[in-house]
Amino acid sequence: MSETIPAGKGISAAQSKIENRLIETVVESFNKTEDPRLKVLMQSLTRHLHNFLREVRLTEDEWRTAIDFLTTAGHITDGKRQEFVLLSDVLGLSMQTIAMNNQAYKGATEATVFGPFFLENAPEIAIGGDIAGGAAGQPCWVEGTVTDSSASPVPGARIEVWEADEEGFYDVQYGDGRIAGRAHLFADENGKYAFWGLTPTPYPIPDDGPVGQLLESVGRSPVRASHLHFMVSADGLRSLVTHIFVAGDPQIEIGDSVFGVKDSLIKSFETQPAGTPTPDGRDLDGKAWARTRFDIVLAPALT
Ligand code: BEZ
Ligand code: FE
Repeated sequence: MSETIPAGKGISAAQSKIENRLIETVVESFNKTEDPRLKVLMQSLTRHLHNFLREVRLTEDEWRTAIDFLTTAGHITDGKRQEFVLLSDVLGLSMQTIAMNNQAYKGATEATVFGPFFLENAPEIAIGGDIAGGAAGQPCWVEGTVTDSSASPVPGARIEVWEADEEGFYDVQYGDGRIAGRAHLFADENGKYAFWGLTPTPYPIPDDGPVGQLLESVGRSPVRASHLHFMVSADGLRSLVTHIFVAGDPQIEIGDSVFGVKDSLIKSFETQPAGTPTPDGRDLDGKAWARTRFDIVLAPALT
């Protein structure tokens, strides 16, 4: 790879030679790597990182600030908090990785960011059941079908759903071990599914750590556009991790803090005035409710 900072751009030919020689020495230090993929990754990373440093002419103070940032991110990370994934999310690296690894396939539903709030073993509900489990919010009827890319239904597809309550908190943030706002269910023999969830509202990603400070320093909001998470899987088909977003949510225009919004995932959530009969006859004590439809198309499994 040729140097990106030629002599003359503020540095002498002699200085440029010193910097390039160091890059080549470090790149060569990986020459004996047995795993060919690891070798490519480390050599390319070396070139890109060195050339980033050279392009911005990183100062020693800035280098120390970066090390302090990573150290703080390490200290705040534990089994429940993953500041490095958050960093990847706000830099758009999570979405770029998803974009490269889930290339569009003939009308299949698009993937988006996974986020840190999924839990294994969420309770199973029957079709038409309620995922709220006591989480506060406006009831929302969610229905749709799961098909493959030739429009055949996918009976028994496993659908995991999870979301924040109306205050913007996931159950794992309550701190008392309660399970709420999450469940899994299975599509019926025609690929149909339905459940009661909560109308999603906007909420900030955890912003009390170094990533939150970074966002504040650069004038960026930590708020995510309102969304409901899905993970859908079935034998022989590509598992899908995605969300649906609420059409008309101003946060979509303002910007989702982790770049997760895709036009095809924006769905209309129609508010039903208080007293409107519900699809399954559920009595909501005269409360208003909402409904939305999300038809899911799974791509074939990667071979
Ligand atoms: C979320 O949607 O739950 C989420 C995604 C990325 C970072 C933080 C939260
Ligand atoms: Fe979320």
